[in-house]
Amino acid sequence: DSFGISAQWGFLSDEAPLTSFRNSSHAPWDDLIRDLPSLITSRSLTTRVKALPPLTASELSSDVELRRAYVVLGFIIHAHVWGSSGPASAPASAPVAQIPPQLSEPFLEVCDKLGMEPVLSYAGLCLWNWSSDKGGFPTADDDGFFPLEQLRSVAFFMRTRGEDAFYHVPVLVEAEGGPLVKILLDAVGEARRSNSASVQAALSASAAIITRMVKHLPKLYTTLDAGEFFHELRPYLAGGKGMEAKGLSDGFVFQRGDGSQFASKHIGGSAAQSSLFQFLDLVLGVEHEAPEKASETVFQEMRAYMPRKHREFLEAVAQLPTLRSFVEARLSDTGLCEAFDECTKQLRLWRSTHIAIVSKYVVRPAREAGRASGSSTAQKPEDADFEATEGDEQLKGTGGSALIPFLKQSRDETTGVTRP
Ligand code: ALA
Repeated sequence: DSFGISAQWGFLSDEAPLTSFRNSSHAPWDDLIRDLPSLITSRSLTTRVKALPPLTASELSSDVELRRAYVVLGFIIHAHVWGSSGPASAPASAPVAQIPPQLSEPFLEVCDKLGMEPVLSYAGLCLWNWSSDKGGFPTADDDGFFPLEQLRSVAFFMRTRGEDAFYHVPVLVEAEGGPLVKILLDAVGEARRSNSASVQAALSASAAIITRMVKHLPKLYTTLDAGEFFHELRPYLAGGKGMEAKGLSDGFVFQRGDGSQFASKHIGGSAAQSSLFQFLDLVLGVEHEAPEKASETVFQEMRAYMPRKHREFLEAVAQLPTLRSFVEARLSDTGLCEAFDECTKQLRLWRSTHIAIVSKYVVRPAREAGRASGSSTAQKPEDADFEATEGDEQLKGTGGSALIPFLKQSRDETTGVTRP
């Protein structure tokens, strides 16, 4: 609880996101976020931002208010950078690096309070960016699944059902996987008491939950068009790091109220910023290698982009003995080993299914765009085993990593125990 994690909903926390500010003085932010898609298409966002009163975040005291401020200001800032100049049909063609104090001051304050980098990350895009038609948390359907149709974004660049799906399929996965936190932490306690039967039961229950998490992923295919994602939405998700070629030589430049400015280069949103999957890796004992010459793994680097409480939780979990070490000391216990292997098998399946999604929504459109400009070869990546070309290997994710090599490596590192 003190880490802001719910026994039922995991990293979504026990409180649904606010859909407006409780404090009416922040109504101008509510108005602006509601109008964001039309302000982008009419290229009139700059005028509206300049007209914002100089609001601060100091009256926002509760976590839910701070989270809403992070989401709302994060979306406005990314829209300002990537969508306030140039022709309306080309979002990322002419970024604007300078972020005015009306946005910078409160955003930096909110990020500081939440312990996050000043850029829109997974928590802002997904964890804190939904409301359900009925209010509160989604209601399960007859099969016990949470339907995507019940969710709406509280902040958006385009306000399409496809954009909603991109943010909310992860929300469904997080909601489905929420109970894993308690189940697997309890299992660590049972392992300390050498209670193999309880650990086995927890691993089997976890494998069943991860299987259900995988089943949410294909919902994206029927709701989000690959071209819409790649060409229309994805440009807004980028941060200011590695964007020199796009015209952001100093990254995002936050202008302060006192006339000074602060340049920052941070990556954009990435699913590797999900604390749930990092928790699973840590508690199960799935280890990832750092890229060549790097001192930390991609996942460790991503922790700076999580809310402070979630980062501190993962740091605490990293100190615990892993369930793998418990199982490896009992390799003759076939039932225990099988339960562990089923868990890692399902996690690996989740990662394979994710690669298939990335191949459809990023690799293929990038190849097609490359072909259109005469610089790539034709291939159809439709599943997790597609042959990546040299061009694909260079492709960077919005999170800055070499997308396909990173995802394939993470999947291949998700292994079970070796049994005699
Ligand atoms: N990380 C995803 C991408 O690169 C969102 O498009």
